[in-house]
Amino acid sequence: MLRCLRRTRPRIPRRPSRVSALALVLLASACSDDGRERRRALGETPTFDDVMRVADAERGGRLFGQCAACHTISPGAGDRNGPELYGVLGKPVANNSRRYGYTGALRALGGVWTPERMDLWLAAPAKLAPGTRMTFRGLPDPLDRGDLIAYLRTRSPGDGDAEARSSRP
Ligand code: HEC
Repeated sequence: MLRCLRRTRPRIPRRPSRVSALALVLLASACSDDGRERRRALGETPTFDDVMRVADAERGGRLFGQCAACHTISPGAGDRNGPELYGVLGKPVANNSRRYGYTGALRALGGVWTPERMDLWLAAPAKLAPGTRMTFRGLPDPLDRGDLIAYLRTRSPGDGDAEARSSRP
């Protein structure tokens, strides 16, 4: 809970009323919510930063259940139908596993897995990289994606965030 409170501390509030409303909602609901309260506070069209400000890695870990059929996420756990994902944030695209045979579609994407890019990928893999072998249909809900990205971050020890930000598209 303490960890949650620290996370919700508003940074330079661009929209003070919205941020404090969010903080209140988060204070009132522990971190293990199903996202309903946070979703309501975020409104219809939250920005990516809004979502990441309230993202919950713990819930993201539960959502990773949807990915686990095809992906492992422990160091050295190896590939399944999809490549191992430990450490993927901040890495060059189609590079997280040395042994995995990525499609040309994914390799052609280039660049680095920034959180923003991961958000586009998780929303609709086939839209970001037409022809990809990741047949996952995507997560339409921004908060689901935000929570998953927060979780991936906890599983990317170098975080890659600094690296990612310097090469943001
Ligand atoms: C049905 C199997 C399947 C599911 C479910 C799935 N993936 Fe994938 N994923 C793949 C495959 C296959 C690839 C390789 C795609 C390619 O080479 O075109 C991939 C690639 C990726 C990559 C790129 C890794 C790299 O090294 O660049 C990421 C990131 C990723 N998946 C994340 C996820 C997440 C997060 C979820 C859950 C929300 C998920 N995937 C669900 C099969 C799946």
